[in-house]
Formats: sequence, structure tokens, C-alpha cells
Amino acid sequence: MGKVIPKQEGLDHSVDFLREGYLFVANRRKSFQSDLFETRLLGERVICLGGEDAASLFYVADKFTRQDAAPKRLLKTLFGEDGVQTLDGTAHTHRKRMFMSLMTKENIDRLLRLTGREWKRIKQTEELVLYDVAQQVLMKAVCEWAGVPLARDEVAKRTDEMRLLFESGTSLGLTYLQGRKARSSAEAWIRQMVKEVRSNQLLPNEQTALYEFSWHRDESGELLPEEVVAVEVLNILRPTVAISVYVLFTVLALHQFPEEAEQVKQGQVTKTAFVQEVRRFYPFFPVAAARVKTDFDWEGYTFTEGTLTLLDLYGTNHDSSIWAEPDLFVPSRFTDWKESPFNFIPQGGGDVDFGHRCAGEHVTIAILEQVIELFTEEFSYTVPPQDLSYSFVDMPSLPKSKLRLTDVK
Ligand code: HEM
Repeated sequence: MGKVIPKQEGLDHSVDFLREGYLFVANRRKSFQSDLFETRLLGERVICLGGEDAASLFYVADKFTRQDAAPKRLLKTLFGEDGVQTLDGTAHTHRKRMFMSLMTKENIDRLLRLTGREWKRIKQTEELVLYDVAQQVLMKAVCEWAGVPLARDEVAKRTDEMRLLFESGTSLGLTYLQGRKARSSAEAWIRQMVKEVRSNQLLPNEQTALYEFSWHRDESGELLPEEVVAVEVLNILRPTVAISVYVLFTVLALHQFPEEAEQVKQGQVTKTAFVQEVRRFYPFFPVAAARVKTDFDWEGYTFTEGTLTLLDLYGTNHDSSIWAEPDLFVPSRFTDWKESPFNFIPQGGGDVDFGHRCAGEHVTIAILEQVIELFTEEFSYTVPPQDLSYSFVDMPSLPKSKLRLTDVK
């Protein structure tokens, strides 16, 4: 007889998930004193996992599938359909290689030159809202990086669409509908470009996402359908614009933790360590989702085929068996940090080439290091009194004021 997975009884706990947000899994891990438990969400049985060992299980390729794992409402907004997130096995590794081919040092440096240029174009101003400004900076830079022409009069509209894609997935009502509209509109926009690339009317450079994805051949040697290319190009544009959320948390941390900010200014801790602590400390992506591929046993517990399984990303980054004083912001903890593929997972865990770990982790870190450099060495600004609190329920979570800065020079 195997062990019984601790179970939260009751018909459905989706309301608890909405109410407790980022803390939902961690709260129950604590009360069950267990790294796994069973609950019911959106009408189905779900296993929730957290911690380093559970993360290493979640990323064993042949135990889980990503098919039908993400809720439909996320596919219709955040992810798009038939993208890399939904693939398994060789189809996945082949597609993932297409993404990773863009993530060379030279290519990431090229993106940093573009973001650096856009940041420096910000005019002296009495007041700005950093969330809005960062999104336009990132959008202009990533479109140029990706070979996607972005007309000046379209910047606001297209940036807003990217924002809606990552803001609307967990919303209800109007925002969700706006998110679906943003997805159709953004996909149609990129699809038209894919047509033009394939008919030689548009000639993006090699090593851009638009070029490489438009001409990518799948594992059977076929070009990808236009709509899939559009979904994948948006898998570059959207998350890069979403780095704006971390830009806010980075600048918030510089403000909220002046001693730690001073350490980074004085070179006592590296910019990388500060960025890693931002990614560990603040909430962003709550969980990753997969389904059990075929029955298996783990530590005496039985996982049955088809069971939806969630890995707690936020909770694992705040797990006290991995992190000393996890609820304190301490960038220096990353100075001698022994990272494993499963103990620090703000953007997923495991192997980036063969698993579903985020393709853009290095891009994210590099962009945020640049933000620290600019906001500590190049810009001067004031953070006026405002509501800087952030929620543990809203997804994504943001400082309420979206970070108003004044006297920006
Ligand atoms: C804003 C910061 C970011 C966060 C918090 C983030 C988070 C994540 C997470 C949690 C996953 C899923 C991991 C899993 O399913 O196991 C993921 C996957 C992915 N991310 Fe990111 N990401 C970010 C930035 C980026 C950037 C900048 C790019 C591209 C330039 C990117 C491209 C991708 C892709 C293509 C995948 C799918 C990987 C796969 O399924 O194999 N992300 N990301």
C-alpha cells in the first residue's frame, strides 16, 4: 500500500486560490506539513507540489505532459495556442532550440544596446509612471531586436496589447475580453509580417525572431503554420514587455531597501546578486502546470495519469528549507549561492534546452542589471509619497501606484 496524499476536502477550492493567490500552495504545505497535497481547482482534482525535491520531480520529462495543462483562458490570452509551452518530447526540444538559437551572448548584447538606447531617450520630466515608460522602452527595443517593424504611431497600441496579454489571463469580465481581443489583434499583426517575409516583401535580418521563426523547419522538415509563427514571435515580445513588472520591483527595492541599494552602488554586492534577490523575493509567476503522463510512484505516493499538477514557483523561492530567512530581502545571500536547477525557480526549473524552463531568463537578468546601472548611476529621480504596496493576490502583482517618479533627469 502506498502512502495517501494529504487532501484538502471539499468540492472546489478555486475561491481559496483567488483569495490567497501566491500563498495558496505554501499555506497548505505548511498546514499539511507536506511538500505535496491534493485539492480541487476549477472542478478537477489537482496535486500541488513545492520545494526542491518536488521541483526535481516536476521536471522529469517522461513523467509529465504539457498537453491540456494550461487552462484554456490562459491559452486564449497569455500564451496563445500551439506554442512551445504546450509541446512535449522531440517536438518540444526541436522548437525550444529555435528559441535558444537567439539567446547567444552577442544577440543578448544587441538587445541591451537597444534597451539602453531607449532608456536614454527618456526626456527630463517632472513626473512619469515607470510601469508605462518601461513598457514602451522594452517594446520598442524588443521589436527592433525581433525584426518586427513598429511604426511610431503604433507604439502605444501594440504595447498596450502586450500588457493586456500578460495582465488579463487571470482576470474576469471586461479585462479578460480585452485580453482576448488583444491576442487576436496582435496575432493578426504578426501573421501579416510572416506572409510578407515568406514572399520576400519584408526582409528582417538573420538572428531576429521574425526571420528565424518564419523560416524554421519543424522536426519533419515543414515550415510552421503562420499562426504558430505569430504565437512564437509573441512569445518573445510579450514576456520582454512583461519584464516591466520586474523593472518596477527592482526600482522599488532600490528605494525600499536603501542599505542594500548602497551595497550594490559600492560594489559590495554585485548587480547580478541584487537582481536574483528581486526575482526571488517579489511575486510574479505563481505556479507552473503539467499533467501526469502515465501512472508512477514517488516517495510512496501514487500519481495517476491525467492528474493536473501544479508546482509552486513563488513558494519554492520562499521555502525555509532552502532559504535562510526567506521573507527578508538580502541580495548578499546570492554571493556564495549554490544554485541547483530546482532550488531557485522564479522562471521555472530544470534544464532550459530540454525542459520548459524559461527561454528568456538570461535576457531578463541582463535587462534588470542594466536597469540597476541606469537607476543608480545615470538617472536622478525622486520617489514621491504614493501607495507602493503590492498584493499577494493580483496576478501579476505590482506596486499599486505603478511607481510614480518625479524630477527625472
Ligand atoms: C518577465 C520575466 C519573465 C518571467 C517571470 C518568466 C517566467 C516564465 C515561466 C514561469 C515559464 C514556464 C516555466 C515552466 O513551465 O516550467 C516561462 C517559460 C517561457 N518563457 Fe519566460 N519569463 C520571463 C521572461 C521571458 C522572456 C524575456 C522571454 C523571451 C525573450 C521568455 C520566453 C519564454 C518562453 C519561450 C517560455 C516557454 C519555454 C518552454 O515551454 O519550453 N520569458 N517563463
